[in-house]
Amino acid sequence: MAILVTGGAGYIGSHTLIEVCDAGEDVIVVDNLSTGFKEAIDSRAKFLQGDIGDQAFMQRVFEDHSIEAVIHFAGSVIVPESVENPLLYYRNNTENTRQMIEHCVTHQVKKFIFSSTAAIYGMPEECPVDETYQRNPISPYGHSKSMSELMLEDASKAYDFNFIALRYFNVAGADPMGRTGQSTKNATHLIKVACEAALGYRDELLIFGSDYDTSDGTCIRDYIHVSDLAAAHLCALSALRKTAQSEIINCGYGTGYSVLEVLSTVKKVSGVDFNTRFTDRRAGDSPQVVAKCSKIHEHLDWIPKYNNLSLIVEHAIEWERKIRSSAP
Ligand code: UFG
Repeated sequence: MAILVTGGAGYIGSHTLIEVCDAGEDVIVVDNLSTGFKEAIDSRAKFLQGDIGDQAFMQRVFEDHSIEAVIHFAGSVIVPESVENPLLYYRNNTENTRQMIEHCVTHQVKKFIFSSTAAIYGMPEECPVDETYQRNPISPYGHSKSMSELMLEDASKAYDFNFIALRYFNVAGADPMGRTGQSTKNATHLIKVACEAALGYRDELLIFGSDYDTSDGTCIRDYIHVSDLAAAHLCALSALRKTAQSEIINCGYGTGYSVLEVLSTVKKVSGVDFNTRFTDRRAGDSPQVVAKCSKIHEHLDWIPKYNNLSLIVEHAIEWERKIRSSAP
């Protein structure tokens, strides 16, 4: 039986594909290539280009293949874009996830792994934040994922269907062997943007806010290496095979770094003292978002390999260098 990966041409999806293919699984990828890249899809997987919102297309995918589990990445992920165009997010993330769940229930696919996000916590008052903390998203993006989690919970109670939702913290870095990485255009993530500045593709890096109530006044985040996150999906698949139990699980390392600490690491690793400038706070930024990670270690056989900020940055820079040197 096959594992269906939606959004396998994207950043986290393409890293997860490598893990799942390495494990010898039979994999089918569905991606519409709207933001992902065909080259990022592991050649061992069968690729079907199409939109998960296309009912007839997805119906055929489920009818033509014997699918054991779905790993569902496909969706939209840019918070400011979700504020400008919330209905796009409710369609791509919420409505399409509802349809994916329905396809699974109709075709007796009982295992579902879902890309969720720490954005569900909004501005948590306690840090590290654990999975029982209230859902309190502050953006349409966060709401779209939060509603998806609710649907998964209700569906798992009503049908013979189980899910693991992985709540990602700040995902960064790239495959250590340079097979894939973050190629997203106009990326806004701190480590990606800082790597672009270090390699001379930006004149300066703006630091959003200097007066937060944190040790150095800048925001604190829990940065997780994308390959460790990818491995967590494979662990989630094993967990669902062992026990038919649904879970929501934080994916982070439980260590927070401030923006200034990240920038100093990027400067040190790259050897480039690029320009930075303080500016106003970015709307919707929480001072501190750090994962409580006991649950992932209790429920999944997950052993992170890259829990090291310098290594995350090193791999991110290597990838940035690679894509820039091969760009036309
Ligand atoms: N930052 C800057 N300058 C930049 C980019 C970012 O100062 O050029 C700061 C931000 O203000 C924030 C921190 O760096 O304080 C991290 O920002 P990111 O944009 O890298 O990411 P966030 O942690 O805000 O959000 C990310 C994803 C969300 C996800 C969240 C989960 O973008 O989709 O992690 O924690 F929900």
